[in-house]
Amino acid sequence: MNLQADARGPIIRPRVSGDMAECAEVLRAVHLRDSYPVNWPADAESWLAEVESAWVAEIDGRVVGHVAATISDDDARVVTVERLFVAPSVNGRGIGARLLDVATAHGDAELALLAVADNGHHAQRLYRERGWSLRSRTPITWGGSDASSLLWYELRRNVREDPASG
Ligand SMILES: CC(C)(COP(=O)(O)OP(=O)(O)OC[C@H]1O[C@@H](n2cnc3c(N)ncnc32)[C@H](O)[C@@H]1OP(=O)(O)O)[C@@H](O)C(=O)NCCC(=O)NCCS
Repeated sequence: MNLQADARGPIIRPRVSGDMAECAEVLRAVHLRDSYPVNWPADAESWLAEVESAWVAEIDGRVVGHVAATISDDDARVVTVERLFVAPSVNGRGIGARLLDVATAHGDAELALLAVADNGHHAQRLYRERGWSLRSRTPITWGGSDASSLLWYELRRNVREDPASG
């Protein structure tokens, strides 16, 4: 299913294998500007593939954003949202918010979780604006000079919005 907000917005659609190289290219630009991910993976495409489901945002046939979601093996009511990023050239147009909402609604889970390093200031602002709450904070040793803790956010189903309405 493709979700299109309006004539100016991107198409949000499920990721396909042919998107992987372009997703990795966008991720590289995000990493260079925002240090996300904090540590660049040995194989970016494999790192992006380590998820159950993923979506991309596309403008004029080009991938400009990505998000993934995985339903918990232990509890089908819990979904973890991960690998959210938007190309620096199109930040601030609401693309991150739309991707986040689509992933959050995956599987109709009752509880959505995500982790963000404490250097992800724009991401944390976005999460709070979309109704997510800080759940816990864990110190990390792998963040070098960029990050010193991992923040876990949660969103309960009753505060989510319909992803197609945004
Ligand atoms: C977080 C991120 C996905 C947001 O994407 P986006 O498409 O710009 O998000 P939105 O357009 O929905 O904007 C969300 C808010 O952040 C602001 N924002 C996001 N990135 C920004 C940037 N680089 N500079 C200034 N403002 C930015 C937007 O203006 C907006 O603020 P507002 O609601 O007060 O207007 C994007 O900044 C990103 O890829 N960050 C690096 C990767 C990352 O940290 N991912 C999280 C992993 S857990």
